[in-house]
Amino acid sequence: MSNQFLNLIEKRRTIYAIGKNVEHSPAYLTDLIQNAIKQSPSSFNSQSSRAVILFHAEHEKFWNFVKDALKAYAKDAESAAKTEAKMDSFAAGVGTVLFFEDQDVVAGLQASFPSYAENFPIWAEHSTAIAQFATWTALHSAGVGASLQHYNPIVDAQVHAEWDVPATWKLRAQLVFGSIEGEPKAKGYMDDAARFKVFGA
Ligand SMILES: Cc1cc2nc3c(=O)[nH]c(=O)nc-3n(C[C@H](O)[C@H](O)[C@H](O)COP(=O)(O)O)c2cc1C
Repeated sequence: MSNQFLNLIEKRRTIYAIGKNVEHSPAYLTDLIQNAIKQSPSSFNSQSSRAVILFHAEHEKFWNFVKDALKAYAKDAESAAKTEAKMDSFAAGVGTVLFFEDQDVVAGLQASFPSYAENFPIWAEHSTAIAQFATWTALHSAGVGASLQHYNPIVDAQVHAEWDVPATWKLRAQLVFGSIEGEPKAKGYMDDAARFKVFGA
């Protein structure tokens, strides 16, 4: 099926081979990322998603934090070297978007709408996922490759201290991006019949 939106989301892929040959300026990419997050829906239009956008040396600093934090988890020298090389491959890109959900907003919604209280943390997770997907797709539409990573909570304390992040912002994911320097992995799809049920069509 051909459809403009489906074409865009089909092109979004996990790109691990990223580099610094991005033609867009940080200002352009910041605008793109901010708008992708702003246009993403949230429960009760609560706009609970937050982001810290890191470029160049600040982005590399983040991946060095992760690299240092992961040293404590290495089984042996070989696995340590492998992990270090993986972090360097992320640092090889030009930027990272750190996605947060503001727990103050979640608590405020719980206080205002007690009958939905247990749903608000879940809906905040949905909201960040939608914002992540929109940002990932927007970057890809601009020819910028990205992959979604999860090194929270091992770097949370350093992130909060280094970039003056409010204590109520909870780190949920990291989208690392750069120029596309390699092909995505082949991807399979399960059978539609096992996945979807349609009635009354
Ligand atoms: C919620 C979620 C969590 C993910 N976490 C990671 C991750 O921590 N590290 C990683 O390399 N990829 C991660 N991915 C990427 C998936 O492995 C990838 O999207 C999937 O294999 C499909 O490939 P594609 O992105 O190229 O379409 C995550 C994706 C989603 C949606």
